[in-house]
Amino acid sequence: MASGSEFVKRLDSVDFPAAPEVVMRLSRLLSEEWVTAEQLSEVMALDAGISSRVLRLANSVYFRGQGVRSIDEAVLRVGIDGVRDVVFALSLLRAFKPLHLNYKSFWRHSLAVAQTVLVLQQRALNLPAPIPEAYSAGLLHDIGMLVLDRTLGAGYGGILADARDKAQPLFVAERAALGTDHADVGGRLLEVWRMPTVLAQAVADHHNPLANDNAAAQLVHLADFICNQHDIHHSTNSRFVAVVPEVWEELGLSETDLPGIVTDMYAGLAKADAILAAAAS
Ligand SMILES: [Fe+2]
Ligand SMILES: [Fe+2]
Repeated sequence: MASGSEFVKRLDSVDFPAAPEVVMRLSRLLSEEWVTAEQLSEVMALDAGISSRVLRLANSVYFRGQGVRSIDEAVLRVGIDGVRDVVFALSLLRAFKPLHLNYKSFWRHSLAVAQTVLVLQQRALNLPAPIPEAYSAGLLHDIGMLVLDRTLGAGYGGILADARDKAQPLFVAERAALGTDHADVGGRLLEVWRMPTVLAQAVADHHNPLANDNAAAQLVHLADFICNQHDIHHSTNSRFVAVVPEVWEELGLSETDLPGIVTDMYAGLAKADAILAAAAS
C-alpha cells in the first residue's frame, strides 16, 4: 500500500470519477433562485434511465401514486425539491458502485443521512433559512469512501479491516494509513466537480463539524451520528464516530428533541428505501 505522503501526492493526480451529466446540470439549476417544473423536465430528458426511474418512484406506494405518466405530473406529486433530490440520488446511485463496500448498506446510509439532515434542518432553531445544499451534503458525505475504494483497490479493503480489528472510526484508520481521510477526499472530489463551496466544505468537515462555521457540516455530522446509532450504517463494523456535543446547541437543537427526530428519521427511511428500490430496478 502507498505510504501516506505517496498517496497524498497520488491524490493530486488521481482520476476523480466524472459527475453524471444530470447531476452537473441539476447542481447548476440549484444555484438559481427559482426552478420550474419545465427546467427540471428538461434536465431529466437528458437521461431516459433517470426519467423512467423518477416516474416509477412517483407511482410507488411510498408516494401513494399511480397513473403518473409525465415528469410534470411527477413534480406535482413529489414537489420540485423532492424531484430534485430524487434525481440527484438516483443518478449517483446508478453511476457509483462500491467495490469493497456493500452497495445497499452504503447508499442506504447515505440516503438516510440525507433524509435526516432535512428532518434536523426543519427543527433547528438557529437556522434562519433552509440550506439548499443540505440534502446533497447528506447524500454525498461519505462519497470519498468510494473514491478511496476505487483508487486503492485491495488496499482499501485492508484499511477497512484495520478499522474493524482495532475498533477505530474509519476516518482514523484512513488517516493513519494515508495521511488523509474520506471526508477530505470527498470534499476534493466535489471541488473538482465544481459543486458549491458550502457543499464541498460540509462534506470535508463532516467529522470535524466545528472547523468552519458551516451549518450544513453540523447537520450532516449529527444526522450521521443518529443514523449510526440506529444501525443505519455502512456495515463496515468500524467504530462509530462520537458526536461533537456542541453541535446540538450550535444548531439550536436539544437532545430532548431526539424521540421526535428519530420518528421522522424512520419516515425518511421509507423514502430512502423507495429510492433504492427504484434505482435497483
Ligand atoms: Fe464519514
Ligand atoms: Fe456516514
